[in-house]
This record gives sequence, structure tokens and C-alpha cells, in this order.
Amino acid sequence: MTAYLDLPALRRASGTVKLPGSKSISNRMLLLAALAEGETEIRDLLDSDDTRVMLAALQKVGVGVTALGVNSYRVSGCAGIFPGKEADLFMGNAGTAIRPLTAALALSGGHYRLSGVPRMHERPIGDLVDGLRQIGCDVRYTANEGYPPLEIFPAEIKLAAPIRVRGDVSSQFLTALLMALPLTGKTAMIEVTTELISKPYIEITLNLMARFGVTVEREGWQRFTIAAGQHYRSPGLLHVEGDASAASYFLAAGAIGGGPVRVEGVGRQSIQGDVRFADALETLGARITWGDNFIEAAAPMSGKLKAFDLYLNHIPDAAMTLAVVALFADGPCKLRNIASWRVKETDRIAAMATELRKLGAMVEEGSDWLAVSPPPTLLPNVAIDTYDDHRMAMCFSLDALGGVPVRINDPGCVAKTFPQYFDAFGAIAAPVIAIDGPSASGKGTVAQRVAAVLGFHFLDSGALYRLTALAAMRANVALDDEAGVARVAAALPAEFVGEQVLLAGDDVTAAIRAEDVGVGASKVAALPAVRSALFDRQRAYRRFPGLVADGRDMGSVVFPEALVKVFLTASAEARGERRYKQLIDKGMPDNMWPLLQDIVQDLRERDARDAARSVAPLKKCDDAGLVDTTPMGIEEAVAAVMEMVHRKLPFFN
Ligand code: DC
Repeated sequence: MTAYLDLPALRRASGTVKLPGSKSISNRMLLLAALAEGETEIRDLLDSDDTRVMLAALQKVGVGVTALGVNSYRVSGCAGIFPGKEADLFMGNAGTAIRPLTAALALSGGHYRLSGVPRMHERPIGDLVDGLRQIGCDVRYTANEGYPPLEIFPAEIKLAAPIRVRGDVSSQFLTALLMALPLTGKTAMIEVTTELISKPYIEITLNLMARFGVTVEREGWQRFTIAAGQHYRSPGLLHVEGDASAASYFLAAGAIGGGPVRVEGVGRQSIQGDVRFADALETLGARITWGDNFIEAAAPMSGKLKAFDLYLNHIPDAAMTLAVVALFADGPCKLRNIASWRVKETDRIAAMATELRKLGAMVEEGSDWLAVSPPPTLLPNVAIDTYDDHRMAMCFSLDALGGVPVRINDPGCVAKTFPQYFDAFGAIAAPVIAIDGPSASGKGTVAQRVAAVLGFHFLDSGALYRLTALAAMRANVALDDEAGVARVAAALPAEFVGEQVLLAGDDVTAAIRAEDVGVGASKVAALPAVRSALFDRQRAYRRFPGLVADGRDMGSVVFPEALVKVFLTASAEARGERRYKQLIDKGMPDNMWPLLQDIVQDLRERDARDAARSVAPLKKCDDAGLVDTTPMGIEEAVAAVMEMVHRKLPFFN
């Protein structure tokens, strides 16, 4: 666990993010699958603290759960009767787990204890317990009235009058009752006695119950009826869609940092209310594109995002992201109807106000609103506290896109719903320096030095083509067999450990530098299928604090959004001399010294081949700076590149 994470000053965000599974859908599906008759296979389940809490609790009450592969599980439903009649359950800080489980367990005729982290014991559950007591459930508070921890005892259930429940503190109380009541097998009615908040979450609940064969009649948002005789039945196979709340950070990054940023896993077909965050961004002037399974966001065509005054009860979680987006708006902004923020992982209205002020914003707060006036410039090097609240950490990472370094304290709290968040954010926002150029221009050495000076990651993309050629040669795959070599490239068991390059555990650091492998690399690099097979692997190097990528098409194809693009070259004669010296320095016997003009000729032919190929030919992009190293030594070349870097990234030294 690191105490903090320093994000560098960022300027631009663009790229594609595959979202983790939705927390709300994951935990509902797990419980419904557990209560159903039959086996359910759930794919793309979110892997996070909150879902682990639910999985562990279900296993403790005797539900069979088998891991099938990455984020896939088979749940053996208990047909409404948990086999375990006695259990102590630890619910962490997962509201989506403790609320529905309390209701289901209260109707299960067993003896259970539920507790959580200290903050969970400050989060209200009284409205739900009141509802359950109306039908005879025996649920008791073991510390403070109205809050977990709870103890549940077997009881006789009487479903006479409608259950009356408040809907203005958390919609999860209604969700919990709705999901649990079919266990009684009798007609059940619920009346919501207040205004209902966060309605889209109730829609998720009803939608998923229907997939398990139980329909609910609804009169407005006031009255819900579950007809007698309905039981959950497994639908067989289910997929969890991407997390729409998590999507909000990336969409906001696209709207603030130029974009386009695409999130995959949610879209037009989504059942999550938080996709409406994209509409809110659109009203601020962001350009939004919808697909069936993606949403994309880009900055306004010109100017800043517009100031806003919005009612946000329909997107309570994603609305937090708007509070930070307000820092980038062209005037004072107001977020209204967000009272539920006060009873979440932390008091989110207070926490937001405190942290936004640290950045220089003027902030006012009310019981259910927040007003944010953006500062003329954001204050750099602020340490943001996250209050054990994943969304605080994710929201405030966006601040760095204002071109200021920011420190996020306790960044590990994102594990509640999105353990890989900072890698995903880095993949669209970490600065990239692309250094392209022909063989023997010195770019490999220069790129490595620049990466070391900046403390950035380093990608030697040529090594991937060399590894592909070597692996193909070792596997007897002909180097012109496009599909065969592409398969080798896609499954390349390569690892970079410090200076060492490993292929299937074998040290090939020297082997990939052999002349025949270099010639092979240049052949396989001309095959389009090989280039696309290596594409994602190269993109994955984009991580915080940044990346220096060395190759032929880093700036043109792989990282077209690179902040700094350098085309490093030298005359063929100068490069020939460097290569010649290298060969001699490597200890080649003097009777084998090649002719300098043969080396120069060979380099010219290789340049011609790299420049003539149909895909990703070697060429200087219009937006790349030219560094001609013919008259330079390595130190001068490094200094020339660093000067370009400093112009774009003044905070890096
Ligand atoms: O930089 P290098 O000599 O290690 O590259 C080996 C071969 O791979 C070279 O012929 C060009 C090719 N290559 C490429 O096509 N695209 C890249 N991004 C990097 C290398």
C-alpha cells in the first residue's frame, strides 16, 4: 500500500478504456443468482473489494461459487433457501452488499450477524430495518440504533399490509426489499412514503429481477407489487456491463483534455442510469458520440466547458465527477439535489468542498447542494485527501489535466470498485514522448537516456519486432507467412527485466541484436497483421508518470496523441560509421571487418524498405521536431530532445 501517488502535470487525454464490470450490477446479479433455482454463469464480474465482500458472504451462507476464469463465476443457486443457518458476515464498506443481504437473510430463518468497517457503522440502515420489522422480521442493532452492526434471528413472516419505507435517504433500502420479498412466495406490496431518490438504480434492480423471472408491478415510484408465486430462476448465462460511474472519469478526461476518449462496455443499450452523465457533459459543450457498447467524449470545438447549474439526483455517483469538472468551466457552477452524498463512503459534500478549496476554488455548500467557482489557475502540488472514498481519488486525478502536478493520498482506496484505475487513467493521460527514426540514428540510446532523466517508462518497439522474428525463426514459421507470424506476435512470451530481454524465460538480450534477426525483424515489420498484433501491447506501455517510446511509427500510428514527437536522424554515412565502430567495439576480428560502404549500402536499403512498406512507413510526421544528429554526440542529441520536452512539459526537469 503506497501512502500517496504523485500524478504529473497533464495536458491531454485520448484513447480507449475497457471498463471494469459495474458494481451495482455485479452485486445484484450475485445475490439473485444465489437466490435462484439453477446454476448461473456470470461473466465480466467486477473484481473489487465490494464484490469480494458479496462473494465471501454468499459462500459463508452456503452458496456454491466456482471461479471459471478471469472475472467469470458459476453460482449454484439455493432456490431461495440459504443452506447456512448461522454466520458472521463482514461487509466491509459495501452498501450494495449489506443492504440487500440484510433483507434476504431476515427472510431466511437463520441467525446471522453483519458488521463492517467503522464508516459502515455510521451509514444508516434504519429505514430498511423498519420496513423488515413491519412484516415480522427480527433484526436488532447491536451497537447504535439505526446503524450496523446488526443481528438477525429467525422469525415468522406476516405479509398483510403494504410495507411502508422511506425513499429519500438511500434507494438501496427499496432495492433490498424488492430483491428479498419474492422469497416469501406471497403477494408483497411496498409503499414509498417520501420522494424516491436515485430512481435509475431501482430500474437496474427491476430489470435484473425480470431477467431472473420475477416481475414487479409499479405505480409511479410510489407503489410496487410483487405477485404471489414468483420465484427466481436462473437465466443461465449473464454478462455484466461496464461500470457507468467509472466511465464518468474517462469521459470527463476527454472533455477536459481534448479527447476523444472512448469507454467500452457501456453505451446506448446500457441499463445503468449513470450513462446519463454523458448528457450532462454534452450540456457543458463536450462532444459526445454514442455506440451500442461505447461512449466517446471530446472537448468543445472551441473554448472552455460551459458553466452549469444542474439537478443531479438521477446520477448521484457520477455527479461527483462534475464537481471536479467545474474546475475547468468558464464560470461558477452549481450541483443541486445531491443530499445522498452525505451518507455515502464519506460525507461527500463536505469532502468535495474541502479538497476543491485546496486547489484554489471558491466553494459553498448546503445540505443538498454544492457551488463551485473555478479559480483562474489551479494551484499546483496540492495533496488531496481521499477519505477512504474511491470516488474522491478518481475524481481528483482529473485535476492534473489542468497542467498541474497533484498528489493523491491513499490511492489504494480505488480498490473498492476499480483496483486498476490509475493504470487505466495513465493509459489515456500519461505523457508520451515518441522518438522515431531510421536504424543507427542513435535514437535507442537517446530515448533510453531521456527516459532515465525523466523517470519515465521506456518502450523499445524495435525489440518487439526483433523478438517476433526470433520467436518465428525458432518455431520454424516462415517469415513471409503473415498469419503465422501474427499468431507468434500476438502470443509473444516476452519480458523486459531491467536491461535483460527474455523470451519464454530464455535470455535473448544478445540474440535479438544479431544481424539475421535484424533483417528478419525488418521483414516481419512489413506485415500488416503483425503490426496490428503488436499494437495493444505497445499501447499498454503508456503508464504514469510517462513513457518514452522508440521506433518507426510511435508518433504516426501507435501514439498519434504523443505530446512530444521527435524524428531523430543522421546521414547514411554518419550512421554507417557508427554501426562500423559498434561492430569493431563488439570484438569482431579484424580480418572480418566489413567495408564501410557495404554497411552504408545496407542501411540505405533498409531505410528504403522501411519507408516503402504500405503500413506505417518510416517518415517524419508533420508535427514531429527534426533532430539531425549527423554532427552531434549522444549528449548533444539528448539535450536537443530534452529542450523539446521542456517546452511541452515545463514541470519535468
Ligand atoms: O530499431 P530496430 O533496429 O531495433 O528495429 C528492428 C526492425 O523493426 C526495423 O527493421 C524496423 C522495424 N520497426 C518497425 O517497423 N516499427 C517500429 N516501431 C520499430 C521497429
